[in-house]
Amino acid sequence: MKEANVAAARKQRGFTFIEDDLNRLDLRALIDEGDLVFHQAAQPGVRASWGRTFEVYTAMNISATQRLLEACKEKRPARVVYASSSSVYGDTDKLPEHEDDHPRPISPYGVTKLAAEHLCVLYWKAFGVPTVSLRYFTVYGPRQRPDMAFHRWCRAAQHGEELPLFGTGEQTRDFTFVDDIIDANLAAAAADCVGTVMNLGGGERASVREVFDLLAKIHGAPLRIRREEKQLGDVRHTWADVERARRLLGFAPRVGLADGLRAEYDWLKSLAE
Ligand SMILES: NC(=O)c1ccc[n+]([C@@H]2O[C@H](COP(=O)([O-])OP(=O)(O)OC[C@H]3O[C@@H](n4cnc5c(N)ncnc54)[C@H](O)[C@@H]3O)[C@@H](O)[C@H]2O)c1
Repeated sequence: MKEANVAAARKQRGFTFIEDDLNRLDLRALIDEGDLVFHQAAQPGVRASWGRTFEVYTAMNISATQRLLEACKEKRPARVVYASSSSVYGDTDKLPEHEDDHPRPISPYGVTKLAAEHLCVLYWKAFGVPTVSLRYFTVYGPRQRPDMAFHRWCRAAQHGEELPLFGTGEQTRDFTFVDDIIDANLAAAAADCVGTVMNLGGGERASVREVFDLLAKIHGAPLRIRREEKQLGDVRHTWADVERARRLLGFAPRVGLADGLRAEYDWLKSLAE
């Protein structure tokens, strides 16, 4: 699936795909003065971040980011845009979540994303590496990771299988369509926002039950749902205050949940054909 995701980019002139590990590569040789660096690489996923696999998360999310920032310290790119996460907030009753709220992640994954975010701010303050951190709120759309909920639910519906539901379905998420995230990354590479941390949320917060209703309409038939235990590390609610991104980046999400979910559903259907 990842090969298919990158296939169109490979055909672009000027695109080079280097399949390697940020913890091994000579990153200084890859970065030139004035470059734009979009640091999206990470080991994502909340549930697998407990226990022994935590060391993968510290290596891929913290150490890899620190290596990249060290290289940037020497090579002076024009901007480093870091993909942070709403998971830095943890469980909070204060909604919407604001960048100045005290972050208290409730998963080891969130801890590593927050640590890397702190490193970005630190390298800006200590060495002038021009970083900006964007806290993504549940990104979805075509090419989404296969372990994420929308991907699993669309596939299950299309295969006539049961859709796993963790917890009661009353938990809510601020879902963000991938194109809006890309627009914000490009804006963050150019705007006057160095050293900041910003929320990126799609603005259409919905409960899992509401998403199921929407998906049933798109699918054109009732869904079969299988209840499972709430997972450790899953937060109850997320909701982004995006005023800062609106002010600094002109961020204004363009794709609503109904259109975005349909785009993901259609993409998965086209893969199966
Ligand atoms: N998808 C979301 O909803 C979401 C939400 C918040 C934050 N984020 C962040 O956005 C970024 C992209 O997430 P995604 O969902 O597209 O995940 P993804 O797993 O599809 O993409 C991450 C990529 O990073 C690569 N990678 C990991 N460690 C690496 C290393 N050491 N060297 C080189 N490459 C490495 C992986 O191979 C993978 O292709 C991540 O930083 C993630 O933490 C995503």
